[in-house]
Amino acid sequence: MYNIEVKATSGNYPIYIKNGLLKDIGEGVKNIYNGKKIAVITDANVNELYGAKVIASLKEVGFESFKIVVKAGEESKSFGTLLEVYDKLLDYKINRGDMIIALGGGVVGDMAGFAASTFLRGISLIQIPTTLLAQVDSSVGGKVAVDLPRGKNLVGSFYMPKAVFIDPMLLRTLNDKFFNDGMGEVIKYGAIKDKELFYKLMNYENKEDLLKEIDRIIYTCCTIKANIVEVDEKDTGERMLLNYGHTIGHAIEQFFNFTKYSHGEAVAMGMYAITKLGEELGKTEIGTSIAIKDILKRYNLPWRLPEIKSEDIIRAIRHDKKNIGEAMNFILIKSIGNSFIEKINEDKINDYMQKILKKTTI
Ligand SMILES: NC(=O)c1ccc[n+]([C@@H]2O[C@H](COP(=O)([O-])OP(=O)(O)OC[C@H]3O[C@@H](n4cnc5c(N)ncnc54)[C@H](O)[C@@H]3O)[C@@H](O)[C@H]2O)c1
Repeated sequence: MYNIEVKATSGNYPIYIKNGLLKDIGEGVKNIYNGKKIAVITDANVNELYGAKVIASLKEVGFESFKIVVKAGEESKSFGTLLEVYDKLLDYKINRGDMIIALGGGVVGDMAGFAASTFLRGISLIQIPTTLLAQVDSSVGGKVAVDLPRGKNLVGSFYMPKAVFIDPMLLRTLNDKFFNDGMGEVIKYGAIKDKELFYKLMNYENKEDLLKEIDRIIYTCCTIKANIVEVDEKDTGERMLLNYGHTIGHAIEQFFNFTKYSHGEAVAMGMYAITKLGEELGKTEIGTSIAIKDILKRYNLPWRLPEIKSEDIIRAIRHDKKNIGEAMNFILIKSIGNSFIEKINEDKINDYMQKILKKTTI
């Protein structure tokens, strides 16, 4: 078992990482929550695989628990779904002293987390992330949100869970596409903060080899994220480093209406493009972009930017809520494991973007 204690202004919370942890989840929850009622919010796919097991384990230790099952996929991060969830919470007479468990990937974690942060002005939350992306990223740090028709994650809050329970064995049922998507974020942690992790990832022979050590890798990633969010809980400084590859990645996702590329794929292309730009600007060691390209290829992630005009990327970047004002923050790496924030003025961005596109689409 790996344990991490995350320090937050609203109180510290633990992250537990252990293969097979889900089967004793009732015991784990009992150690940190002495109430009676729990609403388990999950999606249809996760429910099919793990819903009954979780409810049975909670029951075994005396909890009264209910399941709220939403449709799988990003469309459930909506106000429509949220209203249905609030409605069920009222039906089950969940009150301020009760608890919500978010059992699922980033979609369920974000939506159920937002429900927990707002229902009756906030009730306790436990995250049980079930995708690689959720285990290394979205379940840690307290960001919860839903989408609006005009954009992703536009309504949300910072709301820390009481605990995060991570069972890496659950990744065995995750399909390759979503697994690789999460690997995009794992690679990101190596690139921004941990050279050793990065080169370790380069050396796994195959997925089975990687899976043998995935608990340790998840621990490393969560530790990096916890260290960053502890010094910048509200995302105004250091936490921006986690956006390496994301500024261009979000722009690509948005330009193609979130249909053509998954988040991990878009971030992968963004990581390569921004590293190429860093080299161009003389701020990144030459050869770093080749290392990024090699690792992305290894995990079946794209690196080459799609056919897209620089004006379109810039328009999409401007639309991103994190880029308001004269200068945009880009995350560059000096070398693998060594990242920094670079402010680039709007007037220079077009020029740079054309350079990036020239270097990454040919
Ligand atoms: N809050 C944050 O800090 C943060 C950070 C990054 C991403 N996000 C959000 O995360 C979301 C994406 O999360 P995601 O990639 O986990 O997608 P997801 O939650 O849609 O899960 C992907 C798919 O995998 C299925 N699934 C989940 N666990 C499974 C398992 N163990 N076995 C088999 N199938 C399983 C789900 O049903 C779904 O179909 C986005 O909405 C994004 O905005 C949030």
